[in-house]
Amino acid sequence: MCGIVGYIGTRQAAPILLDGLKKLEYRGYDSAGVAILNEGTITVEKTKGRLKNLYDMINGGKKLPGTVGIGHTRWATHGEPSDVNSHPHASESGRIAVVHNGIIENYMKLKDFLIGKGYTFISDTDTEVVAHLADYYYNGNLLETMVKIIHRVEGSYALGLVSSDHPDQLIAVRKDSPLIIGLGEGENFIASDIPAILKYTRNIYLIDDQEIALLTRDGVTLYNTYLEEVQKEVFTVDWDIAAAEKGGYEHFMFKEIMEEPQSVLNTVGPVLRQGLLKFDTIPDRISIVACGSAYHVGIVGKYVIEELTRIPVEVDIASEYRYRNPIITKDTLVVVISQSGETADTIAALREAKKQGAKIFGIVNVVGSSIARESDEVLYTLAGPEIAVATTKAYSTQLTAVYLLALSLKKAMGQLPPEDEKHYADELMRLPDLISEMIEQKEKIQYYASKFFNAKSVFFIGRGLDYALSLEGSLKLKEISYIHSEAYGAGELKHGTISLIEDGTLVIAVATQEKLFEKIVSNIREVKARGAVVLSVATEGCEMIEECSDGVLYIPKTDPLFAPSPAVTLLQLFAYYVASLKGCDIDKPRNLAKSVTVE
Ligand code: AGP
Repeated sequence: MCGIVGYIGTRQAAPILLDGLKKLEYRGYDSAGVAILNEGTITVEKTKGRLKNLYDMINGGKKLPGTVGIGHTRWATHGEPSDVNSHPHASESGRIAVVHNGIIENYMKLKDFLIGKGYTFISDTDTEVVAHLADYYYNGNLLETMVKIIHRVEGSYALGLVSSDHPDQLIAVRKDSPLIIGLGEGENFIASDIPAILKYTRNIYLIDDQEIALLTRDGVTLYNTYLEEVQKEVFTVDWDIAAAEKGGYEHFMFKEIMEEPQSVLNTVGPVLRQGLLKFDTIPDRISIVACGSAYHVGIVGKYVIEELTRIPVEVDIASEYRYRNPIITKDTLVVVISQSGETADTIAALREAKKQGAKIFGIVNVVGSSIARESDEVLYTLAGPEIAVATTKAYSTQLTAVYLLALSLKKAMGQLPPEDEKHYADELMRLPDLISEMIEQKEKIQYYASKFFNAKSVFFIGRGLDYALSLEGSLKLKEISYIHSEAYGAGELKHGTISLIEDGTLVIAVATQEKLFEKIVSNIREVKARGAVVLSVATEGCEMIEECSDGVLYIPKTDPLFAPSPAVTLLQLFAYYVASLKGCDIDKPRNLAKSVTVE
C-alpha cells in the first residue's frame, strides 16, 4: 500500500522524508516523490520506480532545502505507475501539494465538476482531484479548506497537505486508511506507520477517522469536522528501532521466522500467567472473518474451536462476508483476525457485523490499529513489527491466539477441568521450543527446496487441520516464489484435480494428524501412482510415511490441535528457500502490499 511521511520542524525535511519512506518500502510501491516548502515556494520532485531513483534525483535531499515537506511511495490503483501519476500532486497554482493513501471513490464526478470550473488535469489518478479541490475551496484557512474536502470526497483516504501560504503548517486527516502523528521537540511528523518516524519520536497520536491534525513546529492540534478541538492521549511506542530493522539478516522474512519462538512466547506467556480470557456470555455461533493468511488462521480456528467447545464456527473471507448478507445476531461472536489491523476488507466486515449487533473480538498485531480500536475486545499477538510482506511470525502468533480463544471459551463453559487446562497450557508453552526445533531443520528444508525450486506447479494436500495448514503453505510459496500452487483437501483431489497430476508433479502432503494418517497415506499413494513426487510433513513416529514419500520433514509430537504451529514453520522456510533460489524479491514480492488498505 502507499506510504506517507510528512515533516515540519527546524531540520532539513527532504532527508527525513527519504529516510521515512525507506522504512515504508515494505508496504509495496511503484513510484515515489516529495514536496518541499521553502521560501514561499513548493517544489515537487517525483519519479516512477524505486526510492533510490528519487534519492539520486534530489541528491539525497540536498537539492531541496526546506524544513516543511511531505513524501509518498505510491502503490498504483488509479493510473499506471508513471512519473506524472506519482505523488505528491500539486494544484495548478503550485500553492498546494497533497499526498494520499486510499481511494477517492467519487473522483470521476469531482473531476468533471472541477473541469467544469476550469481546472486542468495532468494525471490519471484519483488523488489529483484532492489537490484541485483544495485549491477550489481554499479561503486562506487550511482547516476550513480541509473540512470542505472531507465533506466532498467519498472513499478512503489518509491525506497530508502543505501550502506555500502557510509555511508554518502541515495538515493531515485520515478515513479508513492508516495515518499516525509523531510528536517531537520543535518538530512534528505524519506517517502511514510507526517505523517511518520511530527514529525521531516514540510519542504518537493515533488519530481516528476524520480527525484533522494541524501540525506546526511548536505542536499539534486535533480537530473534528466541526473544527472543535479533540483531546487525545499520547501513545508511546515501546518496541525498539532494531525490531523494525533487518538486524544482519538478508531478508526481513527470514529474520521474522527466526523470531517466531520468542513471538509465540510473548503471546501465550502473559495470558497463561494472568489466566485465560473471561467470557460472561457464551456465543451460540462464531464467525471468523479475515483475509489471506489471517483467513487461513481462521480455518485452523474453526477446527480447534469446534473440537474443543462444540460451538458452530463459520469462516469467511472478509471481502465475501460483507456482501453475502451474513446471518448475525447479538449472540454471534465475530472474530476478526488481522496482522496490520488496517485491511480495508476486514475493517468493512467488522463494521457490518457491529452494525448488526454482533460482539467483535479482534486478534491483531499492530497496537492501536483501526481494527484493534473498533473491536469490543482485543487479543494482541505480540509478534512485534512484521515488515516482510509475506506474514510468518504474525501468522504463527495468530495460531496461538485462536488456541487461547478456544481454551478460554471452553473454560468459560465450565468444561475445562484443571488437569486439562494444565495439559493444554503445558503444550502451549512447549511450542516455542518446537518451533526452534523446526528452524534447526533449515538445512534439510533448504536441501528439499534446492530439489524442487524449478517446479512449475505444486499441490499441497492435507486433511482436517492439515488441510487448513496446506492453504497457508500454498499461499506462502505462491506469493514469494511466483510458482503456481494449490491447496486441496486430500480426500477431494480425486474429484477432479487429480487429473492434473502427472510425472514429476510436486505434491506436498501435510500429514501431522495421526487420526487421519491412514487416509492421507492412501491419498499419497494415489498421487504417487500417477507420477507425483511427494514431500511429506509428518509427526515423529510415523516413519511409515517414508515408504510412499520422496522426502519427509518431521514435526515433534504435540497435541494434534497445536500441530499447525511447528509445521507451518517448515512450510514457511520451504517457501523462503525456494524463492531465494529463484532470486525473487522475497520481502517485497511483485504486485503485493503489506497492508491492503483499499478494497
Ligand atoms: C500474507 O502473507 C499476505 N501478505 C496477505 O495474505 C495477508 O495475510 C492479508 O493481506 C491480511 O493482512 P492482515 O493480516 O494485515 O489483515
